[in-house]
Amino acid sequence: MIQTKHDFYKVVEERRSIRGISKETQVTEERIEEVVAHALKHAPTAFHSQSSRVVVLFGENHEKLWNITEAALKEVTPAERFQATADKMAAFRNGFGTVLFFEDQDVVKDLQERFPLYQDKMPEYSFQATGILQYIVWTSFHIEGLGASVQHYNPLIDDAVQKIWDIPNNWQLMAQMPFGHPTEVTGEKQFASLEERMKVFK
Ligand SMILES: Cc1cc2nc3c(=O)[nH]c(=O)nc-3n(C[C@H](O)[C@H](O)[C@H](O)COP(=O)(O)O)c2cc1C
Repeated sequence: MIQTKHDFYKVVEERRSIRGISKETQVTEERIEEVVAHALKHAPTAFHSQSSRVVVLFGENHEKLWNITEAALKEVTPAERFQATADKMAAFRNGFGTVLFFEDQDVVKDLQERFPLYQDKMPEYSFQATGILQYIVWTSFHIEGLGASVQHYNPLIDDAVQKIWDIPNNWQLMAQMPFGHPTEVTGEKQFASLEERMKVFK
């Protein structure tokens, strides 16, 4: 079991999207593997189907991901806007690693066959499952002192990712989470009124 003295409510408040990251972290690759594995094991999934899959990239593998993403974006971005995109890719590449989140479509199909009543809902549940898992990893990284963000360059990079890291056909890429030592101070967030967003009946 992984232990922390952090207050859950405080951590929920503190987690932010940190897109400015560096490789200069004290957190080890082993510790990162441990917290990602812990999240993957304990995150809830519909019918306990355990549909989520992850790939953790460090070092050259991490850098390669942002190189292929940059190359793919270059094909579809107007030349005058590409510098901003390249800068963003450089910022992610500058990080310590990236977690790739997948959902196993064979598991989703199997659920659809076994529970025909919920057939239409299974893909939605799978999306929700990856969201929950991503949130646990994101928040765990914050506890460890890492900055991270959620990115969506799928499906643009799906084929390249599948080929380079020999990912099974049935694993569908859902999100990418570059992480590293936080080099960015995030601004204050504005919040919509909770009175308008929440109803309580007693
Ligand atoms: C489902 C979901 C998708 C998101 N997709 C992206 C994304 O593709 N790129 C990105 O930079 N941030 C993405 N974000 C981050 C949000 O923009 C961010 O969480 C929100 O603005 C609140 O800021 P905070 O994370 O600092 O609290 C996503 C967040 C969620 C929950």
